[in-house]
Amino acid sequence: MNTEIAVLTENDRENDRILARAAEIIRSGGLVAFPTETVYGLGANALDGDAAAKIYAAKGRPSDNPLIIHLADPSDAAGYACVNEAYERLAEAFMPGALTVILKKRSNIPNTVTGGLDSVAVRVPENRYARRLIELAGVPIAAPSANLSGRPSPTKARHVIDDLDGRVDMIIDGGNTTVGLESTIVKLDTDPPTLLRPGKITLEQLAAILGEVVIDKAVIEKLCEGERALAPGMKYRHYAPKAELTLIDGSDKSFLKYVGDKAGTGTAVITYDEYIDMLLCAGYDRDNLLSLGPADDIEAHAAALFNLLRACDERGFERVYARLPERCGVSLALYNRIIKAAGYNVIRVDCE
Ligand code: TXA
Ligand code: MG
Repeated sequence: MNTEIAVLTENDRENDRILARAAEIIRSGGLVAFPTETVYGLGANALDGDAAAKIYAAKGRPSDNPLIIHLADPSDAAGYACVNEAYERLAEAFMPGALTVILKKRSNIPNTVTGGLDSVAVRVPENRYARRLIELAGVPIAAPSANLSGRPSPTKARHVIDDLDGRVDMIIDGGNTTVGLESTIVKLDTDPPTLLRPGKITLEQLAAILGEVVIDKAVIEKLCEGERALAPGMKYRHYAPKAELTLIDGSDKSFLKYVGDKAGTGTAVITYDEYIDMLLCAGYDRDNLLSLGPADDIEAHAAALFNLLRACDERGFERVYARLPERCGVSLALYNRIIKAAGYNVIRVDCE
């Protein structure tokens, strides 16, 4: 298949022409990759089961892993899901934004979209091009992250092109995504609500609106044989680089001592700006030091992580070390993504 690649610019008339063309492709049952503020999405008409089926084929995605439907306005959700008071309150506080809400579905959403579940995931992206595309399409857009299944979600059009060129009708290049991690997912058809995937909208922010919110076990821990994740996608080993990724749990000092001793060809460290000089002194090559940004800027870490995981593959490292993130605020999302990428491979280090 020939994939059309279109770049959004400062020229709004030209952008609208591109988005109108993309909307036409969506309406006629095709696939368009588009930017959102979290990660790039691979969109199809959410009311067309055959179009949604093409998404699974293009990504190599298991068919039991349901898709999020993207809407232009929070009030549109009532047409596709049974909205409740909790939804209204979350919509008021966080939509448009990096939040996905799971509600009971209406019958117009095909089973292909929900992987056979009786619930549907709803999100209103903040990215203005994404919302304009949905408006122009005139239908909700079902969209998972626009990566091949198992690879890190794309935060740049280059990532989408690497994974999906020749497999989709169109890729819209809207520059780097700003958040860099996928949306927070909260399930509202349970009592109390359940956090299925942490993201930029934090557990603490959700709890301030909803009261008690429980965390699905799959967010933090490896599930045992036979255990079920409430978000089917959370059971898969995602984001895994080809290198062996090891997470280090311990103080700054212990981390630097531990990885400092491991310097050598084929070994890389995902680290922070402040540590680069120390690791260079320990014998690392500059190319083997991947910085998430300043140590205290969690949002910068979120924006950088997936690009660095892809860089690990591009540079062919054999071993990669990274710090285990904290489990609060936005850092819980980093913890969740990186611990899956590492296949739960964590070493506790402490130096006295
Ligand atoms: O930020 C995002 O959410 C991005 C952008 C493109 O919007 N999308 C995204 O989609 O990350 P995807 O398909 O990569 O992840 C969706 C997650 C999967 O883990 C899936 O299992 C879960 O949402 N999910 C979707 N529908 C669900 C449902 N009805 N019940 C439980 N989990 C659901
Ligand atoms: Mg995904």
